[in-house]
Amino acid sequence: MAKSILVTGGAGYIGSHTVLQLLLCGFKVVVIDNLDNSSEIALHRVKKLAAQFSTNLSFHQVDLRDKSALEMVFSSTKFDAVIHFAGLKAVGESVQKPLLYYNNNIIGTVNLLEVMSAHGCKTLVFSSSATVYGWPKEVPCTEEFPLSAANPYGRTKLFIEEICRDVQNSDSEWKIILLRYFNPVGAHPSGHIGEDPRGVPNNLMPYVQQVAVGRRPHLTVYGTDYNTKDGTGVRDYIHVVDLADGHIAALQKLFDSNIACEVYNLGTGKGTSVLEMVAAFEKASGKEIPLEMAGRRPGDAEVVYASTEKAERELNWKAKFGIDEMCRDQWNWASKNPYGYGSPDNED
Ligand code: NAD
Ligand code: UFG
Repeated sequence: MAKSILVTGGAGYIGSHTVLQLLLCGFKVVVIDNLDNSSEIALHRVKKLAAQFSTNLSFHQVDLRDKSALEMVFSSTKFDAVIHFAGLKAVGESVQKPLLYYNNNIIGTVNLLEVMSAHGCKTLVFSSSATVYGWPKEVPCTEEFPLSAANPYGRTKLFIEEICRDVQNSDSEWKIILLRYFNPVGAHPSGHIGEDPRGVPNNLMPYVQQVAVGRRPHLTVYGTDYNTKDGTGVRDYIHVVDLADGHIAALQKLFDSNIACEVYNLGTGKGTSVLEMVAAFEKASGKEIPLEMAGRRPGDAEVVYASTEKAERELNWKAKFGIDEMCRDQWNWASKNPYGYGSPDNED
């Protein structure tokens, strides 16, 4: 019997790619999403890409804070596990609107855990972030590093990790994997699904992509005086399809072993500077990305990359793609969908 997986936030960037990989692996998938930062078109395209598996996908437009709607979803299907992506993720917005972030991310998660518990579904994969390492004193970041938060968004990740540990401590039937993502970029190689942020992108590659298609005049490079190879910030970029596959590996681990609450980094273990990433994108796209050098962005760390040993050893998962493939697929998506899932009329 195919296992049923509930995916919260499954219409979003990482969620939609993970839903596709789940379907292709033979899982039944129910997505809930309030479409606050996504489009149902992403799920229509996932269905097309999933071909004969498309009938294993269903969608409910539900907000996690609406507990009775959540109850209805759990009453209609018995889930083997939940992958919990749903949340708000813009660092700057979280500083401006902390209560929105605490309300959405934390209350949404507590509701989800309560309803899961009430329905006897106690197997969870949660989307955490490398942001919980704050400004790491050394690299690569191992899962044992001290944790800190530099902003309300990061604090929601830290709190939710702690909530998950407490819940599992209180009831050993729970099996939980916390996945700390490094910097997801790229798109499905088909170019039919990818990242489509609302408004001005906060993150590097969505911004670069919008410059390449002519929606923005130049990229502002935040900080050229870091102690790095070329002075710009260094991050661990990971192809979103590799990241999606990491979730399948985590599910297998949950189904096959007696896990309690474990944390794994999902990264490549390689650090790439802003200028290296821009050069790789220029090569992949044949487009020049005009640059404007600027001061550091407040709150940014200098160098962040993952230790990948624990995930390799225990999840049997390792990223396959490098930055050239990430940029190739990002450009394929961007050139086919210069306005994402929307039209120029929706442009701000
Ligand atoms: P995304 O915004 O594309 O996807 C999140 C989805 O959750 C969206 O479709 C949104 O509509 C939905 N959502 C938000 N609040 C909801 C609610 N209350 N009820 C129902 N649906 C809700 O973001 P993403 O990049 O796909 O990120 C997925 C998860 O991974 C998030 O939890 C994010 O914090 C985490 N993460 C992302 C990154 C990154 O750089 N993209 C890095 C580390 C961690
Ligand atoms: N950068 C620019 N110009 C831009 C955007 C980014 O130069 O317009 C630089 C940043 O200064 C940084 C690098 O590109 O050096 C990467 O920046 P991102 O915003 O893409 O990624 P961050 O590592 O700063 O943060 C992101 C998310 C966090 C998350 C973290 C790890 O925003 O929430 O990845 O997953 F925690």
